[in-house]
Amino acid sequence: MTAAKGRLFGLGVGPGDPELITVKALNRLRAAPVVAYPTSHGRKGQALTIVEGYLRDEQQRLPMVFPVTTEKLPPPFDYETEVRRFYDDSAAAVAAHLDAGRDVAVLCEGDPFFYGSFMYLHDRLARRYETEVVPGVCSILAGAAVLGTPLVYRDQSLSVLSGVMTEEDLRQRLAAADAAAIMKLGTTFAKVRRVVADLGLMDRALYVERATMGAQRVAPLAEVDPKTVPYFSLILIPGPTWPGSGPGSGRGAGPGPAAG
Ligand SMILES: C[S@@+](CC[C@H](N)C(=O)[O-])C[C@H]1O[C@@H](n2cnc3c(N)ncnc32)[C@H](O)[C@@H]1O
Repeated sequence: MTAAKGRLFGLGVGPGDPELITVKALNRLRAAPVVAYPTSHGRKGQALTIVEGYLRDEQQRLPMVFPVTTEKLPPPFDYETEVRRFYDDSAAAVAAHLDAGRDVAVLCEGDPFFYGSFMYLHDRLARRYETEVVPGVCSILAGAAVLGTPLVYRDQSLSVLSGVMTEEDLRQRLAAADAAAIMKLGTTFAKVRRVVADLGLMDRALYVERATMGAQRVAPLAEVDPKTVPYFSLILIPGPTWPGSGPGSGRGAGPGPAAG
């Protein structure tokens, strides 16, 4: 008789504050004999940092070490090839535990299916193993809470944009948006701010970095030094205030209580 295979769990662990993990994700996390998490050389990784206080000593840790930190690699290296190989190797390492009958909880900062690294493991493993995905609080919603701003009223739509887009694409999409969230800033910040300013949106745009993490920072967009912008940052442009929302809607009321 062959032993039963382990189950794969993709756990959204939220945007930073360890209290922003769901009860379900926490239960799955605590029950898993193996905990896998993305990281890079010499770092702990954001997802592990968030849940570290919840782990038991006997839980086996499986770091998945991302090989590159920039998309611009010198020849003969190619970013897409390196990343594909990384996810193939990570999936194989997770599969080895699953084949041995051990459940594996894969941590993902924010939500696993919202630009999450877990998606690439899911694509490789979900057809072969019983899989459950537990959603998490994503960065955009954490950012709106921290910035004290409702995002979209009534029939307004929200555009989720990436700072990696070309300046022209960004300009077109932003010009057409009711409300927008712009992610993946870091080195792309100066370009993104230029587009926001060109479209006359500086008054509505709000900036937050490391929302709900210990080092959270909120700053007026005009005053942000592009050299200091971290990867974990975003710009929110809320939809225009709805007539029914009334005065005192509290938009941009500032950061909430410090992250716990
Ligand atoms: C690969 S995506 C991961 C998104 C994540 N899965 C989520 O649900 O929000 C990384 C981008 O998410 C945004 N991000 C994630 N966590 C954040 C945080 N705590 N504060 C601000 N931005 C964050 C940043 O724009 C960052 O460049």
